Amino acid sequence: MVDQTNVFKIAVIPGDGIGGEVVEQGLRVMNHLAENSDGRFSFQTDYFPWGCEYYLKTGKMMDEDGVDTLREYDAIYFGAVGFPGVPDHVSLWGLRLAICQGMDQWANIRPIEFLPGVPRRLNHPSVDTLNWILIRENSEGEYSGIGGRNFSGRGPGKEVAVQSALFTEHGCERIIRFAFDLARTRKRKKVTSVTKSNAQQYGMVLWDEVFARVSLDYPDVETDQWLVDAMAANFVLRPEELEVVVASNLFADILSDLGSALAGSLGLAASANLNPEKKSPSMFESVHGSAPDIAGKGISNPIGAIGSAALMLDHLGLKKEAEQIHQAIAETTRQGILTRDIGGHYDTEEITDAILKNLETINANV
Ligand code: NAI
Ligand code: MG
Repeated sequence: MVDQTNVFKIAVIPGDGIGGEVVEQGLRVMNHLAENSDGRFSFQTDYFPWGCEYYLKTGKMMDEDGVDTLREYDAIYFGAVGFPGVPDHVSLWGLRLAICQGMDQWANIRPIEFLPGVPRRLNHPSVDTLNWILIRENSEGEYSGIGGRNFSGRGPGKEVAVQSALFTEHGCERIIRFAFDLARTRKRKKVTSVTKSNAQQYGMVLWDEVFARVSLDYPDVETDQWLVDAMAANFVLRPEELEVVVASNLFADILSDLGSALAGSLGLAASANLNPEKKSPSMFESVHGSAPDIAGKGISNPIGAIGSAALMLDHLGLKKEAEQIHQAIAETTRQGILTRDIGGHYDTEEITDAILKNLETINANV
């Protein structure tokens, strides 16, 4: 036993649909590691019932002072938000975006990993070694929420809506620098910037200019630039060229679903919403949504949520444990223990059982 246990305070927001079931699996993995840490660390988890059910009862997606309450935590572990009965823009803005923007979690990290044993949708000669990281600008861009609707009083068919994207030089610079710094830690030091600056001639041209300026500070990092439509094709045709890909809020969101589908399933993709300055807690969540079509059946793939727990441990300084989770996930898929979305027949809990078993083997071998 060590003298003092490091107790990490985790705010758990299961949210809607399969959010609760996948988060539960991630917590099983985290608690297993804590129990086997010889008292080095443990997790204190507090649950928050926010989401669509809460909204239907209270008229709010989260408590009024919810963001301030969350500031007390070391990290936030999030399931998913959204369910039929509550408009998606109400649920997303009322909870996930309220937290990301309220906490200034401006860097969203979304690794695209090709796991062994998972049937791929991508026919590529080096598919087994592909892996790249998408960096999503997470605070502004197309998700700035600037705009409005008006003139419904003019009669049917006459309403107008304005939705503006906001690009600040500060916002562009911090996410682009983040991408360059991350690229320096990777085996191939390369950053690819994605915009649509031929059509988006203000915000995205500013992004391009900041990219060019920042790149001068990183002469050791290779750079590349693509328009988003061509990049979507590149994900399929030339994925070996990708290492760190940085894009705006909307573009990186779309590309991350494409990337995870190519790797096998949306259910595999993990993500971290970081406040890199650590002025407020960061939030960890799988990329997928609440999947109402399979909610409550116990068949959802928990790997995205468990991988997100690994990103959380890494952020909390538990680097060895984070790596062990990655190894245990890869070993589990290699053994053919797969959920239905990736061609297997195992249930959510059985995947976690196998991951825990593989963690024990990995632990015994170190
Ligand atoms: P979705 O990601 O929930 O589901 C898309 C498809 O992927 C569905 O067929 C679903 O069954 C499948 N899928 C997703 N996760 C899976 C998993 N872990 N295992 C197996 N299959 C999985 O996206 P959709 O259907 O567009 O949105 C559903 C709701 O989720 C909406 O209310 C939407 O607003 C919300 N949403 C929330 C997000 C968040 O909380 N971060 C992100 C995306 C959507
Ligand atoms: Mg998405």
